Formats: sequence, structure tokens, C-alpha cells
Amino acid sequence: MECRELDIQFGVDYYPEHWPRERWETDARLMEELGVQVVRMAEFSWSRLEPEKGRFRFGWLDDAIALLARHGIRTVLGTPTAAPPAWIIAENPEIQPMDANGLRRHFGGRHHDCQSNAVYREHIRRYVTAFAGHFAKNPNVIGWQVDNELGNSHGDLCFCPSCEERFRQWLREKYGTVESLNEHWGTVFWSQDYSDFSQVTAPRATAAGQNPSQLLDWKRFCSDLVLEFHQFQAEILRAAAPDKFITHNMMGFSEKVSYFQLGDKLDFSSHDQYPGGHFREGQNELRADAQAAELDFIRGTRQKSFWIMEQQSSITGWEVLGRAPKPGQLALWAMQSAAHGADAIVFFRWRSCAVGTEQYWHGILPHSGVPGRSYREIGQLIRRAGPLLRQVRGALPQSRAAIVFSYDQEYAFDIQPHHPQLTYVDHVMTYYRALFRRNIPVDFIREEEDFSRYQWIIAPLQYLMYPELEQKYRDYVRRGGNLVLTMRTGVKDAYNRCMCQAPLPGGLSDVLGLQVPEYDCLRETSVEIQWDGRTYTGEKWSDLIEPTAARPLAVYGSEFYAGTPALTVNRFGEGRAYYVGTEMSPALADRFVEEMVSQGLEPLASTPLGVEVTRRVSGNRRWYFVLNHTGQTQYVTLPPHWIPWDGQRRSTLPPFAVDVYTEEEEEA
Ligand code: GLA
Ligand code: ZN
Repeated sequence: MECRELDIQFGVDYYPEHWPRERWETDARLMEELGVQVVRMAEFSWSRLEPEKGRFRFGWLDDAIALLARHGIRTVLGTPTAAPPAWIIAENPEIQPMDANGLRRHFGGRHHDCQSNAVYREHIRRYVTAFAGHFAKNPNVIGWQVDNELGNSHGDLCFCPSCEERFRQWLREKYGTVESLNEHWGTVFWSQDYSDFSQVTAPRATAAGQNPSQLLDWKRFCSDLVLEFHQFQAEILRAAAPDKFITHNMMGFSEKVSYFQLGDKLDFSSHDQYPGGHFREGQNELRADAQAAELDFIRGTRQKSFWIMEQQSSITGWEVLGRAPKPGQLALWAMQSAAHGADAIVFFRWRSCAVGTEQYWHGILPHSGVPGRSYREIGQLIRRAGPLLRQVRGALPQSRAAIVFSYDQEYAFDIQPHHPQLTYVDHVMTYYRALFRRNIPVDFIREEEDFSRYQWIIAPLQYLMYPELEQKYRDYVRRGGNLVLTMRTGVKDAYNRCMCQAPLPGGLSDVLGLQVPEYDCLRETSVEIQWDGRTYTGEKWSDLIEPTAARPLAVYGSEFYAGTPALTVNRFGEGRAYYVGTEMSPALADRFVEEMVSQGLEPLASTPLGVEVTRRVSGNRRWYFVLNHTGQTQYVTLPPHWIPWDGQRRSTLPPFAVDVYTEEEEEA
């Protein structure tokens, strides 16, 4: 079941167990009046649902579900495995996770569980089997969420003996023999050869340095473990209730588990969207691009529409707080989620909690329970956008450009960032932001995606390279695609070993028409770049490029390589291959996107900085969302054939306002 098949647009995350029963009726009535159609519950309620081993107390949840149903509200239930209760920890303290120093993380917060531990799995099997069996036949329960924000656990998952043993099994399956592992991990270095798999350890804290090949496999293993942990529960839920959907609340670019692979196992993806941030800086227009990217990324996990399972509903914070959302901002943020492909938006949380870690992660209702500004603003949003979301269900942006996103590349740069400030996601974002500023829709795709669906593929930091991927890029350009490759392409093989057969960028040299015999890590400096007589900046890294066939677009303007190419383009087959030898400053990235636009990549509309335009397309119908992320009135000129979806066409957009337009394409 995909989410476009569900007629649900708005909901809230609800914790009835935090409040006296006498209040539930008021909550349900206020929710109904607000337009809430769904609640998510129970993903942290283990101690109240199984207070003692095998003694299940599902009655209160049955009552809450039934009461909400009387108000027309349906339920999504979460499994509570991100917070095993104290009695389980007392019985089996060994399920508490171990950090890289071999120390246990203790009870008293959440995520105090090891995901491989067999004893914990038995507790989960008992609970989830009873839970799924009990609620399977309840027609008001429409779907499940397994655990909560999987991967949002420990710094680097768990290093306990159980996880270590699972890692060894994973390595045995991957390499077969310990000789093969030695070869692929390069254990000849620093005398790390193993003579038996039993000697291999989880990469705990070492005295000095670590093996990059071991670390890469460890990160892949951790992702696989989380996926298997999810499947373990999902299979129980599916077997008990094949008619209910399974989704998961992902966290944008969080990297602990591959959301592409997780998405494959879900009916649809969900995401938790907190633009005000969890202790983040700058609750203003400057984050609009990052928010947009996370939404596009979540859509990319399945190339389908999705849900927001937690959308910010007021001030956020644990020990310290973020800014109060300004009037209009909550609705703007929710509309931005819809603008990028959300079919339903569930607000976190219904009411600010009086107790516990998240007392200051505010809900729609304040602590007092008396409806205030958030309730009013979200109510207005629901009344306006409910009919819109019903129409746009399933519609997607129809992007002509895509960014290749790879967890493996990210892991490799986590392990060796090269430059102290280089991160994979930030580097990817230099491209995304420039496209965002021009209102050019873009998809995030995995390496396995069919590239031929796109006219433009941007593939940043293709650092780990292997023959199949190389062939895909080659074929894509040969058949007429526009490919953008960057610094650090083709440096290593899939095992994190440097490739030595040819100068960089290795096998793609002829596609790019260049070689990179040298490079420079820009420590505490940046490099000038000249393009058409104007000066820009490159950061963190310079590739020293020797063209064999490529044409320079821009050259370095400083350093000992001044005058040599920094950005190039090469015709190969029917297509073009660009190479960007540095991390572009925003102005340089804007100039680069100008080049793309001049080669036929069309923006949706031209707007002032801070005003975003997105598109959703279904059949011959298109919806355009125009979002003013700034606190100022903005003046926009939109294509005259766009028809206002509601209200009047206007060229002045008040602070934080959102306008929606439609367009019908003539039938061919
Ligand atoms: C996450 C979790 C929620 C809650 C919120 C606020 O997104 O999924 O359980 O903790 O953050 O901190
Ligand atoms: Zn463990």
C-alpha cells in the first residue's frame, strides 16, 4: 500500500498515557475540531503495556483507540523497542549497548538497547507478537511503525561482544576466507594480519589509528544490522496484519542505516521534520534549503510520496530551547513538506509534556492544555491545505536533474574527511543549494537508479569506484546524458583501498577528457578561481587537472597551479561530462548552475532569495508551491498561465506566506 491510497492528510503524535484519562475526551474533541484524522501512539509505552514479563495491559490503549475512533481519528501504532523497560534491563543488563571504549550505556534515557543481542530479541519477539496479535483485528489501527528513528541510537551503534560476533559472521559471509579478508583490508600494514576470523574485533577505540577498510565494513555492517533488526519486527507485524501498512520515521540525512534499503522494506517512507532544529542555529530562511534537501532525500528513498510522521508544532528543545516559530512559520514549514512530496503531515506532539526529557519539546497545546497560537495556526493550515493535500496525493516533482547519493561514499569520508571541514553531505549540499536558489527541482537517487530518466546527473565525490558504476556513468554520457563528476572521483575501490592502475580519476579519464596527477588540500586557505573574467573561490581542495580532451570552463587564479583548469567539460559520445576540481563557494556554485541552465536545465520560476518554488505533477495536472521563507514581504513575478489554486493571484508575498498555483497541460 502506498500512502497516496490513504485519504489522510493531517495527524498528531499522541501520548495518552502521559495524561489522566479524564482528559482524553477533551483531547479527542479538540483534535477533531482541529481536523486531525490520524494519531501515532505507543512507540515509547512498553512499561505501561507490559509492566511485567508476559502480563500485557493493552486495555488502556484499546480504550484510547476506540475513543479517538469515535471522533473519526484512526491510529498508527509504534513498537516500543527504542526504550525497553527497567524490568527487562534488571533481568538482562547485558542488552545495554557498549560504546567504543567498552563501557555500557545505561538505563535512564532511551535507546539503551543492543540491536543484535539474542536475549533482547526474545523480549521483542514476545512483546511484538502479543502486540501485533492483539491489535491486528482492530480496524481503527491502520498501520505500524517499527521502533522509532532507527539508527538514532548510539554514537556508532554498539560495540558489545554480541555485535562483535555478528560482525564476524557478516565478514565470513562477505569474504569466505580469512586470507581474502586480509587481502581486502590490507592487513599487511602495521602487522594486522589475521589467521582466524575469531581474532577480528569490532573497531573499538585503539591506541593509534585504525584500518579504513575495517571501518568501512563496520559501518556497512551496522547499517545491515539495523535493517535486519527492523525486518525481525516487520515480519511479525506483516504476518499478523497483512492489511496494515508499515512505515518508518526517518531522519533526513542521518547516516547510520541506509534509508534506500530501509525504504525498500516499507509501504511508504516517513520523515521527522524539525526546521527549528534540535539545538540548531538559525531558525530562519537560511535553513530552508537544508529542510528542502532532507524532504527531497526522503522522497528519493522510494521515489514516491511520503508522510511526515513528526512535523514541528511549536518551540523545540531538551535542555536548551530553539526560537519560537514566528506567526505563519509552522504552516510554512508544513507546506514545505507538502511541497516536496508529503501526502500527510503528523505533528509532533499533541501537547507539551509535563515530565521527562522532552518537557520543552513543545506540542500543539502548551503544558496547560489550553489551545493557543499553535493550535490556531495549525487549524488554519489544515482547513486550507486539507483539500489541497487530498488532490496532490502521489504527485511528484518530475525532476530533470538528479543528485547521486551514496552511503558508502559518505562512510568513506566520515572515516577520512581529507580536509578537517569536509563532510560528504555538506559537499553534496553545495550543488543542491545552488539548484535550490534557482528553483530547479532535483531528485536524490541511489547508484542503482535508472540514470536514463534524467537529463542531468550530479555525482559528487565518487570516491569509491567499481567497474559496474564506472560503466553506468560511461554509458550515461555516451547516450547523451549530462554528467557532473567532482574532486576525489575514482580514488579507491569498494574495499577502501587506493587504486593504482592508472592516474586519477582512473577508468573515467577518457569520459572526462582529463587526468589529475596531483592535488592540494587547502588547509587554512582557499583558492581563487577565474571564470569569464570574474573571480570566485574554491574551498578545502584543489585537483590539479591536465586536460587530454576536456575544455576548461574556469581556471585557478592563485597558488602554484594558477592558470590551470579548475572546472572542465568534455564531449563524450552524445553527452557531456563536467569535472569540478574543488568544493565550490556558493557564488561559484551559482555560476556553475548558470552553465547548466544555459545548457537547457530549466528553473521553475525566478524568485528573490528566500522564496522557494516547487512543483508536484500528476497526469496532466501541476501544482506549484511558492513559499516565502523570509520575515519580509517579497515581490514575485510568476508565469501568467499559472492559475491561483485558492485566493487571488498576487505579486506581493507577506512574510512566511505560501501561495499555490495550478497548471493544466493540454492533452497531447
Ligand atoms: C525525535 C523522536 C521523538 C522525539 C522528538 C523530539 O524526532 O522521534 O520521539 O524525541 O525527536 O526530541
Ligand atoms: Zn551490541
